[in-house]
Amino acid sequence: MSENRNAGDTRSAASTTGAGAPAPSDRNSLSIGADGPIVLHDVHFLEQMAHFNREKVPERQPHAKGAGAFGVFETTEDVSAYTRAALFQKGTATEMLARFSTVAGEMGSPDTWRDVRGFSLKFYTSEGNYDLVGNNTPIFFVRDPMKFPHFIRSQKRLPDSGLRDNHMQWDFWTNNPESAHQVTYLMGERGLPRTWRNMNGYGSHTYMWINADGQKFWVKYHFHTEQGMEFFSNAEAAAMAGADADFHRRDLFDAIARGEHPSWILWVQVMPYAEASTYRINPFDLTKTWPHADYPLIKVGKMTLNRNPVNFFAQIEQAAFSPGNTVPGIGLSPDKMLLGRAFAYNDAQRNRIGTNFHQLPVNQPKVPVNTYMFDGQMAYHHSGDAPIYAPNSGDRMWADQTGPAADGWETDGAMVRSAYTLRSDDDDFSQPGKLVREVFNDDQRTKLVEQVAGSLLGGVREPVLSRAIDYWKSVDPQVGGRIEEKVRAGTAPRPAEGMGEG
Ligand code: HEM
Repeated sequence: MSENRNAGDTRSAASTTGAGAPAPSDRNSLSIGADGPIVLHDVHFLEQMAHFNREKVPERQPHAKGAGAFGVFETTEDVSAYTRAALFQKGTATEMLARFSTVAGEMGSPDTWRDVRGFSLKFYTSEGNYDLVGNNTPIFFVRDPMKFPHFIRSQKRLPDSGLRDNHMQWDFWTNNPESAHQVTYLMGERGLPRTWRNMNGYGSHTYMWINADGQKFWVKYHFHTEQGMEFFSNAEAAAMAGADADFHRRDLFDAIARGEHPSWILWVQVMPYAEASTYRINPFDLTKTWPHADYPLIKVGKMTLNRNPVNFFAQIEQAAFSPGNTVPGIGLSPDKMLLGRAFAYNDAQRNRIGTNFHQLPVNQPKVPVNTYMFDGQMAYHHSGDAPIYAPNSGDRMWADQTGPAADGWETDGAMVRSAYTLRSDDDDFSQPGKLVREVFNDDQRTKLVEQVAGSLLGGVREPVLSRAIDYWKSVDPQVGGRIEEKVRAGTAPRPAEGMGEG
């Protein structure tokens, strides 16, 4: 068939150059005669080649593979006693964006490999953007941000072969026993959610809420799926990884396209401000949950995802979430991990997307931006001719706050490099032990034993192997004993690629 045969008659409009003029052709470059060399002044061809070379941006360092959708958050209950944040006032509906992801895999990795799942939310509130960047588990692997890059490296690839490696993962986890709680979740059913619609989401950290009277509270966020929690077995997940690596992405997109809008109910646990200093567990330790008997769930509202992106790259890949994006009535907390994250995300996005990433439509707030930050690559909506320095004598000098920070807390002491001070119930193994004994049923415990033993048999060497068995005996002597038996006998089913991974 001739390259020149075209469907020109049926085209509704000509393609254009980036400058908007009709493009001469998207099939034939300009040449000297049909068989001669191409010429350098074929500007449209040059533009295509040059843009193609620049189409990729770096993928997110962790959480590279993901997808998302837009929706709405409706506050259905009165929680004004705890926060004055506009989005959490009863009856308020706020436009939002959600992105779900795997942690360790790269951009093209299978959605169904065992992993923690990211649960990122951006609320376009009337007081600026509020981001909650959590996971499908209520806790995390480590409690000091200094360990985070090491943790992620240990879950990614070996420096020589470029392969993922169970030995490296277990080496990190067993050298950091505070990981036991999260590893128990990961090796249990939560490591293999059936779909993103079928998983819960958590803010994980402790955040501050401040009410209209300036009273402060500590809160933890829980998003419970209205679709019900459902999981894949190892075999189902492995088969799906081969059959459809994008299964979770497809499931969410197709469900929304069909009009099945997934929803989650937001609940919070609230701790009075002063109780934090005396509670038996350090409430800012990200490896711990707060027992519901001490701090019951309080309902807040409902999140519904109802609109697919129309351009994946512009609206999902370039979306920039940051735990540092808070709004009045919501603050951070003394959780060292959270404070480390407050820096990390926007810095990653300046590198990944560009200096003015916050000006892109998906990241733009729905309120005016009055900022002295100006210029830089791709700037297009700086505050017009407003002054670019402060203080200034013009009539557009933006207001400043002085005095105690509304979302601050008391702190004192000499500078040290140290773990958190331990409280009476601050050990690493009680909570994961309770999880396997009191929350998991027999079937779930057996699956956990098989999963861990299979992962350990997937290339974990001494002394890490023995340390891993001790780690599980510390979580629960029986579960640890059963894992040891299987490992010593070499009988556990070996998980497929990625299956031991975090
Ligand atoms: C000190 C600890 C941590 C650091 C330094 C860190 C750093 C990062 C960075 C640099 C990114 C990529 C951001 C981007 O390129 O847009 C990222 C993504 C992400 N992180 Fe963390 N992280 C930490 C802990 C956590 C924790 C504890 C959670 C969950 C509770 C979490 C959840 C996520 C999620 C869900 C994403 C994907 C965001 C998106 O959908 O765009 N991270 N993290």
